[in-house]
Amino acid sequence: MAEWEKSFQETNRELLDFLDSSPTSFHAVANMEKMLKQAGFERLLEGKTWNLQEKTGYYVTRNDSSLIAFRIPGKDFVGFQIMASHSDSPALKIKDNAEISVEKQYIKLNVEKYGGLLCAPWLDRPLSVAGRVVVRTEQGVATRLVNVDRDLLIIPNLAIHMNRKVNEGYEFNGQRDMLPLFGGKEAREGFLKLIAETAGVKETDILDMDLFLYNRMKGTILGFEDEFIAASRLDDLQCVFASLKGFLAAKPKRSVAIHCVLDNEEVGSGTKQGADSTFLRDVLRRINQTMGRSEEEYLMALASSFMVSADNAHSIHPNQPDKADPTNRPFMNEGIVIKYSANQKYTTDAVSGAIFKSICKRAEVPYQVFFNRSDMIGGSTLGNISNSQVALNTVDIGLPQLAMHSCYETAGAKDTAYLIQAAQVLYSSTVCGTGDGEYQVEWAEESD
Ligand code: CO
Repeated sequence: MAEWEKSFQETNRELLDFLDSSPTSFHAVANMEKMLKQAGFERLLEGKTWNLQEKTGYYVTRNDSSLIAFRIPGKDFVGFQIMASHSDSPALKIKDNAEISVEKQYIKLNVEKYGGLLCAPWLDRPLSVAGRVVVRTEQGVATRLVNVDRDLLIIPNLAIHMNRKVNEGYEFNGQRDMLPLFGGKEAREGFLKLIAETAGVKETDILDMDLFLYNRMKGTILGFEDEFIAASRLDDLQCVFASLKGFLAAKPKRSVAIHCVLDNEEVGSGTKQGADSTFLRDVLRRINQTMGRSEEEYLMALASSFMVSADNAHSIHPNQPDKADPTNRPFMNEGIVIKYSANQKYTTDAVSGAIFKSICKRAEVPYQVFFNRSDMIGGSTLGNISNSQVALNTVDIGLPQLAMHSCYETAGAKDTAYLIQAAQVLYSSTVCGTGDGEYQVEWAEESD
C-alpha cells in the first residue's frame, strides 16, 4: 500500500468507527464530546456563567443532539470561521405503546418515519434500537443514552410470489410495510423491559423515550483498489467527522474557530437545536460578550466571518449518469463538491465560492462543482436556513456520495481526508471583509 493510501485508510477506519458508534445524533454528540475532552476542551453549559479564556477550547451542547465547539485566539479576534454540519440521518422512530401483536404469534413494533428515507434498504437486514430514555429521579428527570448493541429486529419483505409486480415499482406504506418484527409470542411486554435493562434503569422509572431503529451492518472499505467506503449515516456524519478532525488540528490565529453540528436537518431544522434556532447565534453573541466586546464589535466581526455549510453531495450514479447536470459532473474521490443553486437553496454565490476555492487551493485539495439538472428540484440544507438566524458569508459544500438517505451509503475513500485538510485551513485562517466587496484572506503561517 502506498504511503498516501495508508493515511487515507487510517482516516477511513477512524471515520467508520465513529459512524458505527454513532447510531443516533445523541451518540454522535457523545462521541464528539469524548474526542473534545481528550483534546483538552472544557464543557460549557448554556444555563451557567461562561468565564472564557483566550487560547482555550470549549464546547457546548443543546438537547444532547447539537454541539458547538470553539477556540478563541485572543480578545481582539477579527471574526468567526465556521463549519456547520448535521448530526441526524433519516431513520425509523419508535412510537409510544410500540408493541403490536400479530395473531398472538408475533410481536412487531410501531414506528414512524424520521426524515426522507429510502425505504427499501431498511428491509431484510438486521436492525437494532438506540437513542435516549428520560427517567424519573428524586429531583426531577434525567437522560440516559441507550443502544441495544445486538441484532434485534428485522423488517421482512413480502415474497415475490405474493406481489408478482413488485419489481415494476412499489409504493411503501409507512404504517403497513415498515414495522419491524421484534419477536415471537414470548416477546410480549418485552420491549420496555429490554430498553430499561439496557439503560440500567427501572422500567417504571422511564417517563419518555426518543428511540430510533438503526442498521446493524458495519461500515466497510471496498472496491478494486479499496477506493470506496460504505456505511450508515455518511450523510452527514462524514462531514461532521471531517469538520471535527480539521478543527482539532487547526491553530486559529486571528479568528474564532467554530465547529458547529446541528440536529434535525432531515426534518427541516425547525427545532430549538436545529439550524433555524438561535443556538449558533446565541453562542457567537455570548463569545463576543464574555470577551468584553461591544455590540458594534460583534456586528463588525460578522462582516469578517466565513461559514462553510458542509452536507454531503450527490456523486454521478454509475447506472443513472443522466440524472445529473450535463456540464458539472462530481465524482467520488475527485474532491470536495461546491454546491450551487440559482434560487439560493444553496448559499454559494460567486464571492463565497471563490473564497472556498482559494481555501481548497491553499489546502492543496481538489474541488468540483454541483448543480441540479435544470428540470430537477434537488434538496436543501443548513446554510440558507442558518443564515436567517445569523447572516454570514456562506458557501454550501459536501462530499460526493451515492444512495443518499439509504441506511447504507457509499462514498470515496479519499474525500474525507480532503475535507479534513480544507477544514484545518478554514479554521486557521481569517476572511477579513468590511462590506465593500473586497476580502482579504489571511492564512495561518506555515510554521505555526
Ligand atoms: Co444531509
